Amino acid sequence: MTTDTALAPALDFSRIPHPAPVPGASREQAIADPGFGKVFTDHMVTVEWSDGRGWHGATLGPRAPLTLDPAAAVLHYAQEIFEGMKAYRLADGTMALFRPDANARRFNDSARRMAMPEIPEDAFVEAVRRLALADRDWFPSVDGGSLYMRPFMFASEAFLGVRPAKQYKFLVICSPAGNYFKSGVPAVSIWVSGDYTRAAPGGTGAAKCGGNYAASLVPQAEAIARGHDQVVFLDAAEHRWVEELGGMNVFFVFDDGRIVTPPLTGTILPGITRDSLITLAREEGLAVSEERYSIDQWRGDAESGRLVECFACGTAAVVTPIGRVASEHGEFTIGSGGPGQLTSSLRAKLVAIQRGTAEDRHGWVKRLD
Ligand code: PLP
Ligand code: COI
Repeated sequence: MTTDTALAPALDFSRIPHPAPVPGASREQAIADPGFGKVFTDHMVTVEWSDGRGWHGATLGPRAPLTLDPAAAVLHYAQEIFEGMKAYRLADGTMALFRPDANARRFNDSARRMAMPEIPEDAFVEAVRRLALADRDWFPSVDGGSLYMRPFMFASEAFLGVRPAKQYKFLVICSPAGNYFKSGVPAVSIWVSGDYTRAAPGGTGAAKCGGNYAASLVPQAEAIARGHDQVVFLDAAEHRWVEELGGMNVFFVFDDGRIVTPPLTGTILPGITRDSLITLAREEGLAVSEERYSIDQWRGDAESGRLVECFACGTAAVVTPIGRVASEHGEFTIGSGGPGQLTSSLRAKLVAIQRGTAEDRHGWVKRLD
């Protein structure tokens, strides 16, 4: 074991060498067309937290199954949070992260909501940086590929009383990723959930906790069963206002160039892609408003032609056009049903910054080596 403290003043990372990394030929095969979330790299980061000791035992080592006490609090009360971010390979070959400080901040926002300890932002970013560099040979060869980084934390204390746990594990794993949606689809089709909501005022909708996703699985499965790609949720109080998709934020583009996206009222995830696109669109001189938009407006504006484009966005999905919307009350098409012009140009601008082919005016890209 070697210890390297140079870049993480808050934590000492130990490196445990991998005794048997995946052989090169098998790795090449795995990264040729990885899809999303199915292929995993050789390494992982693990950090421990305990009451009294705080964060300690930071390790970058071989990826391996975990051993957990069956009474570990996460298995009973779902005290768990995660982040989703991507490491990119820039045009000059350098590895880079996109706004990792924003993921670190949101991770700690989620931690506070779930009564979990916060991790120093620089330690969070350093953990992700080390793993991305250790597994850089896993960078997918497929066009548009990236290393999807998944930091997460869970309550590991063995205790069945209902209170915040006194022991946690923070881990980072890495998954070579291609497209989230099956390739060749020009625009996705979404299902408006009638029976289910995702988050209520005062709940955990703004936190990235596993429980939110568990609750979205039945409506998401319903969407798939009805032939759609994703579910979109309405607000829990009035069942009227469009909130977000199961794992993406949503934007509406009008014929006068105006863009609308639902406001951050505590029930939707404050997406980093959402924030970046708002910034890029405003820089273009476009009017972006964060305001409530109802399902009736959505249908009416699509039918009148006032609404010309609609898209979903997130780390995994990047920017994905929405072509068709369906609910128990019928179906409507947005614009031509395919990718719109503004959607395509915003996507291209964002991707160019992320991949280092456009100027990074906001200091969003963090080079890793
Ligand atoms: N909304 C939900 C529920 C998500 O899971 C995600 C993905 O992380 C997003 C929105 C988009 O967030 P971001 O752009 O930070 O990836
Ligand atoms: C992401 O975009 O990173 C997400 O977390 C969405 C989904 C894969 C859960």
